[in-house]
Amino acid sequence: MKLQEKFKELRKNRNAVLATNFYNYETAKGVLMAAKVTNQPLILQLSKSSINYLGLSVAFKLAKSMLEYHRVEGWVHLDHGDSVDLAERCLDTGFNSVMIDASEKPFRENVKITRAVVKLAEKYDASVEAELGYVAKLGQSAASVAFTQPEEAKIFVEETGVNALAVAIGSAHGFYKKTPKLDLDRLSEIERITDVALVLHGGSGIPDLSLQEAIRHGICKINLATEIKDVYMKTLKQVLKTEHKIDLRQVFPPATEAVAALVEKKLSVIQKSDGK
Ligand code: 13P
Ligand code: ZN
Ligand code: NA
Repeated sequence: MKLQEKFKELRKNRNAVLATNFYNYETAKGVLMAAKVTNQPLILQLSKSSINYLGLSVAFKLAKSMLEYHRVEGWVHLDHGDSVDLAERCLDTGFNSVMIDASEKPFRENVKITRAVVKLAEKYDASVEAELGYVAKLGQSAASVAFTQPEEAKIFVEETGVNALAVAIGSAHGFYKKTPKLDLDRLSEIERITDVALVLHGGSGIPDLSLQEAIRHGICKINLATEIKDVYMKTLKQVLKTEHKIDLRQVFPPATEAVAALVEKKLSVIQKSDGK
């Protein structure tokens, strides 16, 4: 099923799909093992820095071939694309979906850039996600956060034709100093007056119950990155304290397993949201 269609189905049934960032073979394998055992679909997403690290075609082929190998229903997505050019290169490579993040630009400019990517993606029959309002990036102060205005969201969706919209409702990238409180009233209003899949960025550090509430109020895609990196690196560092083998194939599996366990838990939380 195309991601655009999946989003429509999720939106109708008030369900969500997990979108996990991955960085290398092991993190990809961990998330796919979790999707496999829970029998859940999954979006494998790559940020620009991960694409630069792995190389665009290697990154894409790794994701695509691993989805096939593990027999998981899933899609490959560009996370936080920062230019039409990058989106186009990803679409050319075969990505099922791209995000164009012009959320730091003025509203009209955001509309214009997003519209250009939607036009482009039509040729590839791919899905497009954009962001309106502003979800704080790692290291940015909460002061620079601007929550999504429902009325603006309605206009933005109508004028751009996006399939998915990232909303700023109180989540932030990375871990939180203080437990975040999501603005569910705002989310409900956005859901009521738009018809696209709403996306929650900054999934790491959000309590399970809040994730479930967000899904019940219209979130169809939950992005998870930091917790994956964190559990992977923590486990690896622990292993390296006692393990002095040079056979890296024996060193990495516990970290891969830890990613799988984390994602398995997240998938069961999402599945239990019971949207209706
Ligand atoms: P976290 O790093 O907080 O999980 O956010 C992930 C994200 O939004 C990727 O786009
Ligand atoms: Zn994000
Ligand atoms: Na977060």
